[in-house]
Amino acid sequence: MPDGRFPICSAEVPPCIGREALLQRMLGALTKPVPDHLQVIGARFAGKTVLLTEVIRRLEAAEKPYTAFVHWDLGHRTPGNDDEFLKRLKQELIEALKARHSDYAEYLKTADGSPYEDISTVLASLVDDGKVLAVLDGFDKALANGRLTRNLWDQMRELAAKPSLRLVTASRRTLRELIRHPDAQTSDFWNIFDQSPVRVGCFDEQDLDAALQQAPEIRLSPGARTELWGSTNGYPILVLEVLNALISSGTHGDVSLEGIRAGCEAAYAVARDRLDALWEDCSSSSRDLFRLVNEQSSVPRAEVSTADADVLLERGFVQLSGNRLQRPNRLLARLLSELPNDATAMARLFGSADAYEANMRGVLGRRIAQLGALDAKLARYLTRGVEDLPDDPGAFLTHIRGFVDRVFELIWQAELPDRRIPSGWMDIWKRNNERGLADWETTFPQGVHRVRLLNLMTGTERSVRLAKQVSKGTYVLMNSAHAFGDFGQHQEGARVDVGTAYAALHLCIELAASLGRDLQAEV
Ligand SMILES: Nc1ncnc2c1ncn2[C@@H]1O[C@H](COP(=O)(O)OP(=O)(O)OP(=O)(O)O)[C@@H](O)[C@H]1O
Ligand SMILES: [Mg+2]
Repeated sequence: MPDGRFPICSAEVPPCIGREALLQRMLGALTKPVPDHLQVIGARFAGKTVLLTEVIRRLEAAEKPYTAFVHWDLGHRTPGNDDEFLKRLKQELIEALKARHSDYAEYLKTADGSPYEDISTVLASLVDDGKVLAVLDGFDKALANGRLTRNLWDQMRELAAKPSLRLVTASRRTLRELIRHPDAQTSDFWNIFDQSPVRVGCFDEQDLDAALQQAPEIRLSPGARTELWGSTNGYPILVLEVLNALISSGTHGDVSLEGIRAGCEAAYAVARDRLDALWEDCSSSSRDLFRLVNEQSSVPRAEVSTADADVLLERGFVQLSGNRLQRPNRLLARLLSELPNDATAMARLFGSADAYEANMRGVLGRRIAQLGALDAKLARYLTRGVEDLPDDPGAFLTHIRGFVDRVFELIWQAELPDRRIPSGWMDIWKRNNERGLADWETTFPQGVHRVRLLNLMTGTERSVRLAKQVSKGTYVLMNSAHAFGDFGQHQEGARVDVGTAYAALHLCIELAASLGRDLQAEV
């Protein structure tokens, strides 16, 4: 039995198990005299598509008030602009109308106005004859690229105002969170949906009972049931995979604690990649929260961000009991214990401001090591810098001037070894009305004038690049490093922030790297 009793993410949407409470709420809202538009929210694999397919099935069977059904998966061939969106919607409508409104389907097929006008005309005429339920599944995808504009949403709002169209969207996050296009946010479209989204998350006891009814050959003892909840927190794909494992291992009758543990073990092997995908969708702060709950076994909800707690709760990664987050999902805990520990290390090394200050030097030290053959003096400035931080940011800043001087020496060695600006260059710059040339014919620039020279050599808005090797990127880095050098010389008791010093050090390192690349490059 390759797919098991309960097909998981099969090509065909499997029949819906349980979810009676959600179904009743949705059917009630969609069949009342003035039905709502609904948004369904749930994480990856939560069962949104399964649920919506069941909603459509039941409303089709009821035959009223809906007479046509669109189940449009926007995750496939996602419309890239407003026009494509409306064209696809029109196409989906033609298909949906064929069954009970073939005349309207025909009309729409041959209509040659704008898709919006054609749809609008059909919906207006349909008012007395029927109603279309349009499910926009995978709606996140349509919003992700930010290319659909306010104009489209305003038009959708107009269409949805007609009694002959009801909309149900399904997405992983709320529509408001998903809108990218800043302008699109102001559309009234987003206000047409019922204020409280239908949230699809973990199975409850009734859902589990409904699943067990389809597996009559096994009976879970109370202990086994507790173990199943502890391992999965009721997340559908996990619960169903455990039941699949029990059934396919030939289990009959009472399932012991050992039996269910073996089932969880087998399910873990099958569901691991999906669990991983679900984990990858979580923000890093919610992941840190999971690790905390896993370590401490229980964390007061009031002490953590609501958003992070919700991310974990909707995925069944933790449970809310009283006002504490607890019961870290055991299958996930197992997955994390097997994953390389990078993420844990990131939280430990950089999770707090103190840790960041203490450990950032390690990152920069490694970056210096990556630069390979570096001028010995530059290398010394940089490694000293790493040693100075985080304890003595002031000392590090005073050394930037020396570093900058050395970089200039290397640049002049490569470009202007006799410290004279070619008269041809000066002619060009004068002709182009470049400012700040002063007396460069007689005196080679010093101090901040060196920065200006580098600027001119590497090309400005008025003058082309004349330098043989040094790049514009090096100039830009130098411009900032030089400013830090000045700051370092004139601190005058100003408190030097460690974060600022790290930024300056990083800048110096990348300046050395950029110069290294320039001087190595073929000319
Ligand atoms: N109530 C359920 N009854 C039966 N199977 C379910 C149920 N809920 C989830 N599943 C299982 O989980 C799988 C994923 O469900 P579904 O495709 O509906 O998720 P989704 O919420 O639409 O995810 P996505 O955000 O990726 O579109 C289904 O193929 C099915 O195997
Ligand atoms: Mg789906």
